[in-house]
Amino acid sequence: MRTFHKTCSDPEAAYRKYELMHQASLQSDAFSSPRPVSLDVAAGSIELEWISDVRPVSEILPGANLECALGLSKTIGRSLGELHDSWQMINVEAVLDLPGITEPGIFDNLGPIDEQDLVLGHGDFGLGNILGQIDDPSHVVIIDPEPAPFLTLPTAFRTRPELDLAHFCSCLEGVFPVRYYPVHHWRALGKLRTELIEAYGTARSVDIDHGDVHRVTLRLVSAFAHWLTRPERKFSNRMLGRFLAFRSRNS
Ligand SMILES: Nc1ncnc2c1ncn2[C@@H]1O[C@H](COP(=O)(O)OP(=O)(O)O)[C@@H](O)[C@H]1O
Ligand SMILES: [Mg+2]
Repeated sequence: MRTFHKTCSDPEAAYRKYELMHQASLQSDAFSSPRPVSLDVAAGSIELEWISDVRPVSEILPGANLECALGLSKTIGRSLGELHDSWQMINVEAVLDLPGITEPGIFDNLGPIDEQDLVLGHGDFGLGNILGQIDDPSHVVIIDPEPAPFLTLPTAFRTRPELDLAHFCSCLEGVFPVRYYPVHHWRALGKLRTELIEAYGTARSVDIDHGDVHRVTLRLVSAFAHWLTRPERKFSNRMLGRFLAFRSRNS
């Protein structure tokens, strides 16, 4: 079996999260996840099964027709639903042995949620961490779960389901992260977003409020822009243009 080594800041937590993700994927037709093979805490790395013939969705979407793009959105929504559901069965804190961190304000003004409906978030559910094939939108590979608080915004391990959904939506918008910029015509974005959220809701038999996802999306984009424009980082005009375009579409 071909493998590769991934270095990460908290390899042990990443390894555990990969294990959980791989187990969940064994029960799904919609997605798979690489099997974690070994853990080297001293070297700060984990060894993972290599999945061949797949490419990041960030590379597939720009060349995909609308039918394929919608198919991918649907598969990704369903996959995330199945992932969240299977992770809900687990006492996550015990498995990961990590503290929760509360996020500032990101879920303000959303509809109420019961404690039991919180999920273990993937944590970095963006276009680059979902792999697939252009001629088969019915299956994806999910990689790179983030066990540590997310770079731009500290988020809890047990969190609202809207967080991963909004992260994906903000990537669809092409702003967060800016470099994954799909060339899809803007008018397709609403459909991709709707397909994603509907498929998620169907997979889990839950009702997700599209407006709530959108509110979290806007906050993630703002947090990302804030992080991107921190003083020690050079902010290019190209990125600024994309951010401003996003703001004007949503103001
Ligand atoms: N197990 C895997 N099988 C196939 N390709 C992979 C696998 N893991 C990573 N990749 C490829 O490497 C890229 C980066 O991997 P990732 O783990 O997301 O690292 P990072 O985001 O930290 O750079 C992915 O977008 C994908 O193209
Ligand atoms: Mg990644």
